[in-house]
Amino acid sequence: MSVHYRDLGFVNTREMFNRAMAGGYAVPAYNFNNMEQLQAIINGCGKSGSPVIIQVSSGARTYADQTMLRYMAEGAVRMARQAGYTNPIALHLDHGDSFDLCVSCIESGFSSVMFDGSHLSYEQNVELTARVVAYAHQHDVTVEGELGVLAGIEDDVEAARAVYTDPEQVEDFVNKTSVDSLAISIGTSHGAYKFKPEQCTPNADGVLVPPPLRFDILEEIERRIPGFPIVLHGASSVLPEYVGIINGHGGRLEAAVGIPEEQLRQAARSAVCKVNIDSDGRLVVTAMIRKVFAEKPAEFDPRKYLGPARDELTRMIVFKNRHVLGSADRD
Ligand code: G3H
Ligand code: 13P
Ligand code: ZN
Repeated sequence: MSVHYRDLGFVNTREMFNRAMAGGYAVPAYNFNNMEQLQAIINGCGKSGSPVIIQVSSGARTYADQTMLRYMAEGAVRMARQAGYTNPIALHLDHGDSFDLCVSCIESGFSSVMFDGSHLSYEQNVELTARVVAYAHQHDVTVEGELGVLAGIEDDVEAARAVYTDPEQVEDFVNKTSVDSLAISIGTSHGAYKFKPEQCTPNADGVLVPPPLRFDILEEIERRIPGFPIVLHGASSVLPEYVGIINGHGGRLEAAVGIPEEQLRQAARSAVCKVNIDSDGRLVVTAMIRKVFAEKPAEFDPRKYLGPARDELTRMIVFKNRHVLGSADRD
């Protein structure tokens, strides 16, 4: 049975991005897979008065079950409204890899989808993205496309350079596909290991400082498609505080490096209207669970370790919205 996102209380991203562009901030897009993460996102964004995109990868949809997930998302909006939060909430498919998956999500109440054709040839990416847009726009669902491939830790530096978004393609891509926003590659990457240690410079405290994002490419893209909403994937900061708690309580995350907050602040002031954060949430949850397990080895009630994880995740989200993305008090 198909359902429209408006009937669930979601909005698409169009107005969110118009306001973010005008206000010089970025809307957070937080990934979730389970109830505690979703509660933290809703409460963190509700408390800080931030618009929010709650996003689901195909892996998350498989993990949580697509039917369960649709009702969790609906429940999340209801919970927000009952708590008195008035912030706009979008439900987004992250890294959709097929037309059928995008259709399935739209039919189950998603208000926004990403079609990630970044690994296809340019022509195929244009063709398939345009097909998704044609379907999505009939339902007033917004679509995010991607040009350029985010670097992986396995890539050497030259390969990483070769897949930065080519500014010369963006205008043609946007015109041919009619996408509503565009994910670009300017040096971010997914996961907790965004840079190799040899790409980084240690600062006075021994903390690895990664090379700066390619703001020159972003500026060139902005020049070619002025006012068009840009999306930054792979934007976790891999907060040292939580990596430290994990490593101090039996974990082993070596040389985990993310995107410095100052660079995200700079991006949020630009045409970047959506910033994707998943790994930082995963790190917070893992850190708090490890801490409880280490400090209270007799504890076996999941609420006693998932609860602290949820509370800390809520705090981290409030902090990011307020002090990094600038999305707080914009509801
Ligand atoms: O960009 C990918 C997101 O972090 C989702 O990751 O596919 O492991 O759910 P996942
Ligand atoms: P991080 O791994 O940096 O959190 O990126 C998440 C992301 O881009 C989801 O699409
Ligand atoms: Zn991503």
